[in-house]
Amino acid sequence: MTYRIAVLPGDGIGAEIVPQAIRVLEAIGAKYGISFTFTEGLIGGIAIDKTGHPLPQETLDLCRNSDAILLGAIGGPKWDNLPTHLRPEVGALLPLRKELGLYANVRPCRTYEALADASTLKKEVLSGTDMVIIRELTGGLYFGAKGREDVEGGQKAWDTMVYSTPEIERIARLAFEAAGKRNKQLCSVDKANVLESSRLWRETVNRLAAEYPDITVTHMYVDNAAMQLVRRPSQFDVVVTENTFGDILSDQASMLSASLGMLASASIGGEVALYEPAHGSAPDIAGQKKANPIATILSVAMMLEYSFNRVAEARDIEAAVEKVLAKGFRTGDIMEAGKTLVNTEEMTNRVLEELA
Ligand code: NAD
Ligand code: IPM
Ligand code: MN
Repeated sequence: MTYRIAVLPGDGIGAEIVPQAIRVLEAIGAKYGISFTFTEGLIGGIAIDKTGHPLPQETLDLCRNSDAILLGAIGGPKWDNLPTHLRPEVGALLPLRKELGLYANVRPCRTYEALADASTLKKEVLSGTDMVIIRELTGGLYFGAKGREDVEGGQKAWDTMVYSTPEIERIARLAFEAAGKRNKQLCSVDKANVLESSRLWRETVNRLAAEYPDITVTHMYVDNAAMQLVRRPSQFDVVVTENTFGDILSDQASMLSASLGMLASASIGGEVALYEPAHGSAPDIAGQKKANPIATILSVAMMLEYSFNRVAEARDIEAAVEKVLAKGFRTGDIMEAGKTLVNTEEMTNRVLEELA
């Protein structure tokens, strides 16, 4: 079996971590007799520089003709002041997700025993944390009507949070199914005390709940959820929420596993799934070989499981990462006293040694 992987390294540390995750896939391929073909495509700032557009048609075609997509990160200061529709974020990442129908972004987040002291949160608070945030990815503020116009005294600008019943139903179903495979607790996060779109969200989740009698559903306002995430994160199993809330809460939740550089993600629900670390291009550390490759390595583990049903292979990667952390190897973002500082490539080398 040969799996065709579209590889979109993108900008900043994206170009540093993606090759590391490919090394891990190659090692898995050799170990389990799976073959991969890797075809690179341009996306983001580098695509603007080389072609004038952040998401060339060729890249979109490549993605459509692949079995899975591996994305690094896009964006950076160099492209921040371009007209909105040409910026890497709005001009490439959002349309890529939309075009491929990737309406669900799955971000698993748990505490690693070995990293309990590396987190900014107390060990006792982190204990037992193992959750997954399911973020709606093709609706809400990101895709609603937006605009700007001149008014007296300056300008006004607006973004609108829009959700339809079918959009909420499909993400909610995916979250109910995910909870069914885990601890059967689903927490839907919204702002139904203020927002009309949240009221539709909550009604829809409640209506579907009747079809999933084994799942315990709770609702939480997003402001409270932000607080509960750092107060007692172990209370969460599956969290489902709209696009913007999920973006913010998942970066926050990444600190439960000590660093944003640990947070993997899968964008699913469409024709071909996309795997990407939850973090960005990290301009502050780009080009310094400091980036933590683990989020991307864990993202390819998700690829093996979700796209190819290679569960043993995915578990093998996760176990290798845990062993490396247990042995005390650390990139700068998770460094603590008494541990061994390694760079991006060395961290991957250690993972490969455990896989061998
Ligand atoms: P960021 O996620 O790039 O970085 C936030 C902080 O986390 C930085 O201090 C960075 O050094 C650190 N960090 C992130 N990933 C790390 C890793 N793997 N190892 C070690 N440290 C890591 O967010 P930002 O600085 O707000 O955004 C920078 C650029 O990335 C912006 O252009 C933004 O739009 C873009 N962005 C892209 C994506 C994506 O491509 N999916 C996601 C988020 C942000
Ligand atoms: C993410 C990023 C993106 C988002 C940006 C870069 C458009 O922050 O993948 O979390 O907000 O979805
Ligand atoms: Mn984000």
